[in-house]
Amino acid sequence: MYIFTSKKELQKYLATLTSAKTIGFIPTMGALHQGHLQLITESKNQCDISICSIFVNPTQFNNPEDLAKYPNTLKVDLEKLEQLACDIVYTPTVEDLYEKDEQAKSFDFGSLTIGMEGEFRPGHFNGMATIVEKFFNIINPTKAFFGQKDLQQLQIVKALAKQMQSDIQIIGIPTIREENGLAKSSRNELLTTSAKQEATLVYKCLQYCKNNQELAIPTLEKYIQEQFKNNPHFKLEYIDFVSLSTLLPITKWEAKNQNAICIAAYIEGVRLIDNIIL
Ligand code: PAF
Repeated sequence: MYIFTSKKELQKYLATLTSAKTIGFIPTMGALHQGHLQLITESKNQCDISICSIFVNPTQFNNPEDLAKYPNTLKVDLEKLEQLACDIVYTPTVEDLYEKDEQAKSFDFGSLTIGMEGEFRPGHFNGMATIVEKFFNIINPTKAFFGQKDLQQLQIVKALAKQMQSDIQIIGIPTIREENGLAKSSRNELLTTSAKQEATLVYKCLQYCKNNQELAIPTLEKYIQEQFKNNPHFKLEYIDFVSLSTLLPITKWEAKNQNAICIAAYIEGVRLIDNIIL
């Protein structure tokens, strides 16, 4: 496994590869869990060379406390990647990717950024797209792998690839869950054992919607809001029923697999997000 800490070294190495080799790219912010490892495995199955980046991108954190709290487990992460026989790891410094005082670029993704994370984490998607665009330009992968857990991010990255007029294929990989249904996330590390148990409420609500799709969307929405109101550990930030293609709210179901239900909620001060496509 090659580990590069600068884009210069990485690009020097990539230039030695024949252009016939397909490259799979998995961007991460570290604290790797099974969800990330699934992305690496998929990349290894589908591409000749897999490159994983580990970089906590400062421009996508609208909350400095969240950035400061973000787990850093580089040594263990590298061991996990080595075990999976990931080919290349790119662990740049902030200076390698950003000029001094450089801010996030301003993108226009239309309706995709209006609601949900776009509303509650202002600036987040500009920061995310800024770094993903930089990575795409440095690596120019054949395919890039993203988890469906961050559904809005996935849809925005697809739009970004189109805007860049690039051929990079964006591959969304289904969410990996704990046994109790809690979506795997680096933030789960910040939860106590009892909060991890309580946190299954999010998954239970999504499953309830899946199993009761004959009910009207406003009825389901009200039901979920009540579940969260009755749970003293949780603070619900949003529950949104949206069209998958526009991410705009819907009050009636669209065609099968074209609807998404997205939830963001705080438990023990930790922000969890999850979704289901129906
Ligand atoms: O999903 C993430 O971990 C980040 O948003 C990403 C895609 C690595 C960009 O920093």
